[in-house]
Amino acid sequence: MYRTNTCGELRIIDKEKKVTLAGWVQTVRKFGSISFVDLRDRYGITQLLFGEDMNQQLAETPLGREYVLQATGTVTERSNKNPSLPTGDIEINVSSFKILNRSAVPPFTIQDDTDGGDDLRMKYRFLDLRRNPVKNNIELRYAVNRAARNYLHRQNFIEIETPFLIKSTPEGARDFVVPSRMNPGQFYALPQSPQTFKQLLMISGYDRYYQVVKCFRDEDLRADRQPEFTQIDCEMAFAEQEDVLQMFEGMIKEIFKKIKGIKIKGKITRLTWEDAIRYYGNDKPDLRFDMKLTELKTIFSSKKRNLFKKEINESGFAVIKDAELVGAICVPGCSEYSRKQTDELTEWVKRPQIGMTGLIYVKCNTDGTLKSPVDKFFDESKLKSLAEKCKAKPGDLILILAGKEELTRKALSELRLEMAERLGLRKPDEFKLLWIFDFPLFEFNEEDNRYVARHHPFTSPKPEQIHLLDQPSQYANIKANAYDMVLNGNEIGGGSIRIYQRELQEKMFAALGMDKEEQQHKFGFLLGAFEYGAPPHGGIAFGFDRLCAILGGSESIRDFIAFPKNNAGRDVMLDAPSTIDDKQFDELQIKLNLKN
Ligand code: AMO
Repeated sequence: MYRTNTCGELRIIDKEKKVTLAGWVQTVRKFGSISFVDLRDRYGITQLLFGEDMNQQLAETPLGREYVLQATGTVTERSNKNPSLPTGDIEINVSSFKILNRSAVPPFTIQDDTDGGDDLRMKYRFLDLRRNPVKNNIELRYAVNRAARNYLHRQNFIEIETPFLIKSTPEGARDFVVPSRMNPGQFYALPQSPQTFKQLLMISGYDRYYQVVKCFRDEDLRADRQPEFTQIDCEMAFAEQEDVLQMFEGMIKEIFKKIKGIKIKGKITRLTWEDAIRYYGNDKPDLRFDMKLTELKTIFSSKKRNLFKKEINESGFAVIKDAELVGAICVPGCSEYSRKQTDELTEWVKRPQIGMTGLIYVKCNTDGTLKSPVDKFFDESKLKSLAEKCKAKPGDLILILAGKEELTRKALSELRLEMAERLGLRKPDEFKLLWIFDFPLFEFNEEDNRYVARHHPFTSPKPEQIHLLDQPSQYANIKANAYDMVLNGNEIGGGSIRIYQRELQEKMFAALGMDKEEQQHKFGFLLGAFEYGAPPHGGIAFGFDRLCAILGGSESIRDFIAFPKNNAGRDVMLDAPSTIDDKQFDELQIKLNLKN
């Protein structure tokens, strides 16, 4: 037997017990004729005491960091207790030990605040995974997984695996493709999600399906995106939007209760997509703080606007008269911002990522006066009505941006987040969930000069708007039965009620520019299946990695994935992707012809 107990287990009540532990050497400390070794495993750290005899043996077989050690001895009370360690009241008085394996000197310290940089830790991820912060994340991930599965199981959901070697499922990214040796010149696509399979399972009668499943998307990576990531993918038959929202509200509430001990009372906030854009400039607003956007176009369309425009031009703000949108946010408690600070904010909004030409501010001083670099263009009452419109209070700072509608909304949304960050309002231990619903069915893709599905092409339009599918001029106005769940400004889940009739699905494909032949080629299997008693259905998929990261208080999902890829999509530990042998190319009958 390698061990009788773990390194996190023994307490003072175990005093006098003879035990054997096995683990990794965290530290070795020599004190004259005795030594202390901290032995670590997944469960904790226990101090080993090597008395004089044992110390002699230790001198002959010295231990190094991360050696794998087995030690037998008696649990004794420590003279020098360590209250910060669960096992800190005891130590093991070692009577025999054995080195089970040696270790090379690890390239970084296996400690909470390691000296290892990101790249090095990823290269030696198996060592990084030994560190407590990473281990805690992996454990949290497993706990979230269990909470979700237990809930879904209780609700009669059945987990069914779906294939990875498939035909493309459109979720808006590029596919990863896999060549088929047995079908030369042909390729599988890895699923961007199991979307079509879960719909087929509804047709098969498995009316509540789920799967904790890997999805693969070849897209540009960010902190919250990986090329392979995990979804908690769900589908329900005979379900309307309200049924889906309630079911998964239940799931997320249970996860919060189990993982964070937080009881979310009442219904989760719901916001239409239009309101989200209007009030927050963004369809995944962070509602841990308010700072709604106010539209000010009417106030700025002053009679003196020519003069106004000229003066504003001089202060570097060119477009206000012709702006499609003039919008403001009202930042609490920042009226005392110095000139340097407001200049700095102006530079911030002028950065290419934000793309504004300038910034106007109005300080709502605590004495009730209003001060702004543009106050000469307004009489007192006008400035007052501006402040009123923004619902500004004394002490607030109103920040105004103007320009093209979409760009300005986006900029206001970014500015809102930036100010909240500066004010410490984006607290990682505070959580605000909401549903966004009534998304547009389509989105215009400038690059391809055509409409694309905003969610995916299987999403149902609002039933009362189905007839608008015959009128391309109306596409922008059609709303979908689609919804997203947002947590602290992150989209953690998205889904929709699906189309389940062949004719409607064909109409939808046609609206997306697919002729009959292409429809048949790409989705003939689904269109055909719709003819065999497809029930009404809908579902949702949660970004499991994202959910874990937010619950764990982190921005980056990589911290919650055991073996993640870096920002270039590489696994630096495996050094993948990599080239393959000529023999493999031959078998696949593929010849490389790289363009660059
Ligand atoms: P969607 O594409 O919105 O929907 O994906 C669902 C959720 O998955 C997460 N997610 C990601 N997480 C990490 N890395 C990525 N690259 C990544 N892409 C998406 C997000 C997102 O909310 N089949 C539909 C679901 C449905 O309609 O039921 C789908 O995949 O948190």
